Amino acid sequence: MRIVFLGPPGSGKGTQAKLLGKRLGVPAISTGDMLREAVRRETPLGLRARAIMEAGELVPDEVVIGLIRERIATPDSARGFILDGFPRTVAQAQALDRLLEDIGSPLDAVVNLAVPEATLLERLIGRASQEGRSDDRPETIRERLRVYGEKNDPLVAFYERAGLLTRVDGLGAVDDVTARIDGVLRGAERAAGRA
Ligand code: AP5
Repeated sequence: MRIVFLGPPGSGKGTQAKLLGKRLGVPAISTGDMLREAVRRETPLGLRARAIMEAGELVPDEVVIGLIRERIATPDSARGFILDGFPRTVAQAQALDRLLEDIGSPLDAVVNLAVPEATLLERLIGRASQEGRSDDRPETIRERLRVYGEKNDPLVAFYERAGLLTRVDGLGAVDDVTARIDGVLRGAERAAGRA
């Protein structure tokens, strides 16, 4: 299956995408992880992305679209993939549609994880104290949430129009959220005639 996870910073996209990728035997592809790796290795992309990420802003569309184009062309993506953190803008979503059209494999579902802001802040501040991620500082978290608020509604409308979007309550234990997502995906599989 080809699935997109949407949701604000801290909603659990990465956590759930990795779990689902393992269960389905397909890669969980996170543009955030790819960019963080580039920053760590100090590649030209990493050097360009670092300040943008630390400010909580979005890396330019053409950069992340290029990353995804290369990543979904690799053999391990042939059976499907889970996208976490991409697309984040309508321009990215349109580019993804074109890439998928080229390989003749459309998206199966878009899961929009919903979590109230107070819980997002709790989770991200908790992660900051455990992992020290450089964009989990309070002022950067505020900016990431602001950017998310600005970009997300048009993206949600885009996937609603495509009939692909399902909102999933992301509150509660990780396993409970996973069970809700499984329920949604079983529905999508039935609709596609695969179950
Ligand atoms: P990215 O890495 O995608 O960050 P994000 O969207 O802000 O997402 P997070 O990783 O903070 O949250 P998440 O929803 O994945 O939650 P997680 O599972 O980690 O992007 C980082 C930056 O890269 C962006 O700001 C931007 O600069 C750039 N970038 C990336 N993609 C881009 C794109 N497409 N275009 C342009 N720029 C891009 O969980 C968060 C915490 O909560 C963890 O500690 C986790 O253990 C915990 N948690 C998860 N689920 C639960 C639960 N159910 N209960 C309790 N705790 C939980």
